[in-house]
Amino acid sequence: MKHIAVLTSGGDAPGMNAAIRSVVRTGLDLGWRISGIHHGFAGLLAGDIVSLRARDVSGIIQGGGTFLGSARSLEFKTETGQRQAVEILREHQIDALVIIGGNGSQTGAYALYNLGFPVVGVASTIDNDLYGSEITIGVDTALNIALEAIDRLKVTATSHHRAFLVEVMGRDCGYLALNAAIAGGAEAVVVPEFEVDPEQIAADLRSAYERGKAHALVVVAEGARYNAEGLASYFKEHRQRLGFDLRVTTLGHVQRGGAPGAFDRLLATRLGAAAVDRLRRGEHGILVGLLKGEMAATPLAEVVANKKPLDQRLLDLLGVLAK
Ligand code: F6P
Repeated sequence: MKHIAVLTSGGDAPGMNAAIRSVVRTGLDLGWRISGIHHGFAGLLAGDIVSLRARDVSGIIQGGGTFLGSARSLEFKTETGQRQAVEILREHQIDALVIIGGNGSQTGAYALYNLGFPVVGVASTIDNDLYGSEITIGVDTALNIALEAIDRLKVTATSHHRAFLVEVMGRDCGYLALNAAIAGGAEAVVVPEFEVDPEQIAADLRSAYERGKAHALVVVAEGARYNAEGLASYFKEHRQRLGFDLRVTTLGHVQRGGAPGAFDRLLATRLGAAAVDRLRRGEHGILVGLLKGEMAATPLAEVVANKKPLDQRLLDLLGVLAK
């Protein structure tokens, strides 16, 4: 291995910069040449590739987002686009590619690997829906941002004895919602993995008041059938019968734009270094992630074929803790 490239793809996540920095500096330490590809697979197809030296990644570890830029590329989803990407990588005499991103990005990584190009994925998405890593880069910071909002909403909810709904991101995965609900002391949670009846949510919120609570809060995952929009319109329609309003806050991209906390900086740094180390050992076609506290590699074939389940025990625990 003499020349590797690194790109970030899909939704940005706090800690991506720390991962890039780690790939660049650990790769340079081995005497390799490192290139950075701007704007993910879209930039790769456009040949937007620059050389990265140690000073190019100075002062970025504390910054959110990704200094390389990211994108979602429709063109790269086609086989023609993927073959073109391999040609471009070879034209630039790049021996291997490190792909920092979530599910869609690692599916792209697997496609390149199947075309014979050496790749290593780095688990990074705020959704934490990636098989092969118990926690991915960006989740911890996104959770803390959601918590800050929840804590503030609880203050005003308590002052007014109101019911609040907070919608968090996560695509089809309820991890962020469930963990924000537990850490934020919410009364209820709605996740895509389990069907929920809005009447049950109303009953949970009402019973919180009946138990003497001064507030009632439900955290909802954006991918749930009854997300913020669905629940808000249900509560509006049945306002008279339910007997209370539901104030709605959608956090959206606010969760993605934060500066990475210590956990994400350290995780990203370890994962970036692990990706380079795996390449040094001649391994590729894998995703590096955190499993049982250690840097671990999972074949991309396994990563793309599996779904990470939501921990039902945590859902049950929330029900108990909300009492
Ligand atoms: O995958 C990260 C994520 O933030 C999801 O939680 C969300 O559904 C999606 O990306 C939003 O994508 P975009 O930034 O392209 O609107």
